[in-house]
Amino acid sequence: MHRVERCTSTNDLARQLAREGAPEGTAVAAEEQTAGRGTKGRRWYSTRKKGLYVSFVLRPKTPEVSLISLAGGLAVRQAIDKACGLDTELRWPNDLLWEGKKLAGILCETSFLGNLPEYVILGIGVNMNHEEDDFPDDIRDIAISLKIITQRTADLEELLRHIVVSVDEWYKLFCRGESQAILSAYDEHSALKKGDEITVLMNDKPAHGIYHGLDPRGALLLKDESGIHRLTSAEIVKLL
Ligand code: BTN
Repeated sequence: MHRVERCTSTNDLARQLAREGAPEGTAVAAEEQTAGRGTKGRRWYSTRKKGLYVSFVLRPKTPEVSLISLAGGLAVRQAIDKACGLDTELRWPNDLLWEGKKLAGILCETSFLGNLPEYVILGIGVNMNHEEDDFPDDIRDIAISLKIITQRTADLEELLRHIVVSVDEWYKLFCRGESQAILSAYDEHSALKKGDEITVLMNDKPAHGIYHGLDPRGALLLKDESGIHRLTSAEIVKLL
């Protein structure tokens, strides 16, 4: 575990270490990120010591890496449950929600060498000790922190220890090819339940249908009158 006070993004630092040959399991945690990244090119506001910002270097031996990000979401969910006793829900693919508000997010970035991944960077951000005013205007209504939920200062080091253990556990499951265990656990903790009506935004076009669960690779299945459509997180801009 490398610890830094400040960096652009722990995913950048982890990638740099991976390129230099860092072994699987190497992690980087920062107190602050000056250019924290979210999915879809969004920013991840990373105020000093308010949030937990950590990235892991993984070196899976299979080209099929899409379940790593779901396993990462399950790992963070489990760590938050163990550290704080909170039963959070997953919003596909891997946001963690508390009463519909976002508590944590995951940014998984993969570099391929030919057909095989050279490394995967699993970046995790958890809102820890933010007060409502600490969130920027544009996300204040949709974000939440552990402190807002529990009314207590959250212990960053304790949660980090749990995250390390949980990531190890869920990633080992992935490496053993236990996809079904990952998908079943995901189903159990998913905010969306099979049969729910959903709308997804794909390149500004809304598509309506019924949530039909996930396929073996973790893609979302949307059922409408024309059949069942398999949608990847790259295709979906937003789940409304
Ligand atoms: C999202 O939900 O949009 C993903 C957010 C991921 C944020 C974490 S914080 C640690 C790591 N470094 C980054 O720049 N992003 C991830």
